[in-house]
Amino acid sequence: METKKRDGFNSRIGALLAIIGSAVGLGNLWRFPYVVGENGGGAFILVYLIIAFGLCTPLMMTELLIGRRGKSNVVGAFKAIDSKSKFYYSGYIFVLASFLILSFYSVVGGWVLHYLGESLTFSLSNLSSEDLTLHFKNLVSAPVRPLLLHFLFMFLTASVVIFGIEKGIEKMSKIFMPILFIFIVVLAIRSLTLPGAGQGLNFLFNIDFSKITMNTVFEALGQSFFSLSLGIGCIITYGSYMRSEENIMKSSIVVVSSDILFALIAGLAIIPAVFAFNFEPAAGPGLVFIVLPQIFSQIAGGSVFQIIFFFILFIAAITSSISLLETVVAYVVEELKITRRKATIYTSIIITIVGCFCALSEGALADFKLFGLNFFSLVETLASNILLPVGSIFIAIFASWVMKKEDVVEELSNYGTIKVKNLGYYFVIVKFVAPIAISFILIKYLLF
Ligand code: PHE
Repeated sequence: METKKRDGFNSRIGALLAIIGSAVGLGNLWRFPYVVGENGGGAFILVYLIIAFGLCTPLMMTELLIGRRGKSNVVGAFKAIDSKSKFYYSGYIFVLASFLILSFYSVVGGWVLHYLGESLTFSLSNLSSEDLTLHFKNLVSAPVRPLLLHFLFMFLTASVVIFGIEKGIEKMSKIFMPILFIFIVVLAIRSLTLPGAGQGLNFLFNIDFSKITMNTVFEALGQSFFSLSLGIGCIITYGSYMRSEENIMKSSIVVVSSDILFALIAGLAIIPAVFAFNFEPAAGPGLVFIVLPQIFSQIAGGSVFQIIFFFILFIAAITSSISLLETVVAYVVEELKITRRKATIYTSIIITIVGCFCALSEGALADFKLFGLNFFSLVETLASNILLPVGSIFIAIFASWVMKKEDVVEELSNYGTIKVKNLGYYFVIVKFVAPIAISFILIKYLLF
């Protein structure tokens, strides 16, 4: 019987750009700048760098190697590697977490589409701070508009996933990721040449050690996991599409470095501008929607830079949401044995329906609260603060305690054909440091 070849990435650059596309998202451009702002600037960045390189790079390698070794979706990969262990149950957590994250991520993606549209029609120019705050509040609490925007964003995401890996995801990443990179550098240069930008640089790179608290470490851990798409199965899924000749360690270093670089450039693009115009860097989630348009109104060529900014925010968001949808779709196609076309359509519809509750959580459903959180925050907290760390613990334990060490080394060294250094460090992190450090985040969220 002829077996159909499994779809996969067809080039090294395509695979890398797709994984970077998953990692670089709203987490870098929207969340990182205000989290840095709220957590003391340079001190936070230092802790973030240590965690991202020291802890997250080994975890990224682990997810890629599980995916590539299992050559299957997040449930199937565990079964393929070790048919006896029950670890494949953790795959269901990944499917659920991807599903939930996508349901609120695409609501924010919808807001981004709205702001992109408004920038293109120049309707955000010259609005005062109060007007912009009201504008944002009116958008997120409107009865219908956030729903339509969410539908549109999900539709765009599904239109890429339906074409599969090589023809959909890889192609899209190859076209849009370079554009994203060029545009963000342009923005950073514009921001750094504003008078008064030096204060922002000082805030970003001046390290005040007294600002490092336990909370800084927890925030940095949570932010780096989310930003690198770890603990949720997206990287396992993309790893399963990687060719056997790719170097997993090098690829992980490239992905982590690029993600950090994007976050830092986003910080460079946003924070100096915030300081140049005397705004507060700790302005929270509204930073990019409320503060930035005011800044753009005041600088020469601002309306063009505004379009560029919301365009890159859109690309960053959609390449991440594609990886989330792909994680669910790959599971449905391979485990439930239905075609990609049907799987994409059905899962997108179900996610869109759940997302509707998130989209309405600031408006029609604002009074629905559980543990003091509205639906949006509830889903976000459950997925990012609980499911994601639990997922990472399972992955680390599986690779270091369940899988045979020889198999891990074999996969990292491409069956001994490439040299890999620092494996001792790798195993210490994955076996001990990661599970313990991540358990701390979990305990903190569950208890406080
Ligand atoms: N890493 C993405 C971001 O920074 C979010 C994401 C998380 C995407 C988990 C996929 C999986 O926005």
